[in-house]
Amino acid sequence: MTEKTSRLPGFYKLPIEKRIAIIAEWAGLDEAETAVLSHNGLTATQADTMIENVLGTFELPLGVAANFLINDKDYLIPMAVEEPSVLAAVSHAAKLIRAGGGFQTSSTEPVMIGQIQVLDVPDMAAASAAIHAHKAELMAIADGSDPIILKLGGGARDIVPRPIETAVGPMLIVHLHFDTRDAMGANAINTALERLAPRIAELTNGRTNLRILSNLADQRLATARCTIPAEKLATPDFSGTEAARRIEEANAFAIADPYRAATHNKGIMNGIDAVVIATGNDWRAIEAGAHAYAVKDGRYTALTDWHVNENGDLYGEITLPMAVGMVGGATKVHPTARVAMKILGVQSAPELAEVMAAVGLAQNLAAIKALSTVGIQKGHMRLHARQVAMAAGASNSAIQRIANQLVAEKNINVNRAKELLTIDN
Ligand code: MEV
Repeated sequence: MTEKTSRLPGFYKLPIEKRIAIIAEWAGLDEAETAVLSHNGLTATQADTMIENVLGTFELPLGVAANFLINDKDYLIPMAVEEPSVLAAVSHAAKLIRAGGGFQTSSTEPVMIGQIQVLDVPDMAAASAAIHAHKAELMAIADGSDPIILKLGGGARDIVPRPIETAVGPMLIVHLHFDTRDAMGANAINTALERLAPRIAELTNGRTNLRILSNLADQRLATARCTIPAEKLATPDFSGTEAARRIEEANAFAIADPYRAATHNKGIMNGIDAVVIATGNDWRAIEAGAHAYAVKDGRYTALTDWHVNENGDLYGEITLPMAVGMVGGATKVHPTARVAMKILGVQSAPELAEVMAAVGLAQNLAAIKALSTVGIQKGHMRLHARQVAMAAGASNSAIQRIANQLVAEKNINVNRAKELLTIDN
């Protein structure tokens, strides 16, 4: 068998059944898994076991992004998203990045932070000292809450007291750092916190209130980096060198200005969320972590760095919290998420986190490259025109021709599309 490649030239032109067949072969999906893709995966009965008051399910388009080469391994990226252009854009960016050798990624150990809020502490310094003095005992209590994670090599890593001032007086916030291995870990850490809280109250002579994980998962970071040869960035209007400089300028804008940073980071999350959703992970947790991390130095800023390196090529990097798991939650319950994980082919939660960081970096490159060269409306308009042509009743073979005509006339209108179809017939 030839080496697996994530290059899929012409894939977008194929009918859906053919695409499914190619992906099924690529990922080694069995008949039942393939059927999950061609029929809606989650049944109402399964949904009824997941949330309350179920009426049915809510579908989103699921596609795969191509061209990803991460640490010399090829990946096809399943993405669930309603926004046009996201998959085409990220696949385009991944192709450019591939030309520079692909992504290099790394991650920390999958360590989550949990918080215990302690109030009415009579002596903060003594309470903090007591926590430090009993660290080993406290970590053992936390470890006792999850023998499975412990057996898999996870468990407590640190206990950190943090006195803070608040509107209702001083508090001692005790952080538990807990390695949750391949789980996202919300349940594991919340259970450990509840187990720890009584002993913390005793040691501090205080009263505990909240015991809950923090979504600012800054002990669980994923990083992706890439370098793109400048000439690969050339467009009809700009040389590669000019395009690289314009991308650097776009990133500098986002680093300096929170109004731009919010949109810049939203573009990053277009890609990351789509993978988080497709794999059944908690996208609100990822969003909360990303945006909180973006303000870690006191001012909201861009999550990426893009600059022209000493060779004149474009270097890009992203680091962000990535609390995602491959066990527990919807990842194993939702049939489509299970198939998406199989397509992705990752072996651990850190690998999944790194892939997501790479997707975010590529999605951001696609956006700021388009914005700093042709603008994004051209691509959007092309897709919009296809949707209008479809809405006007164009057959599969006529959609592209009608859409091209609408774009050329700068009149993307369903009535005009209908007129063009009448002229056709
Ligand atoms: C649109 O969903 C995302 C962008 O606005 C991101 C950006 O401006 O960088 C294109």
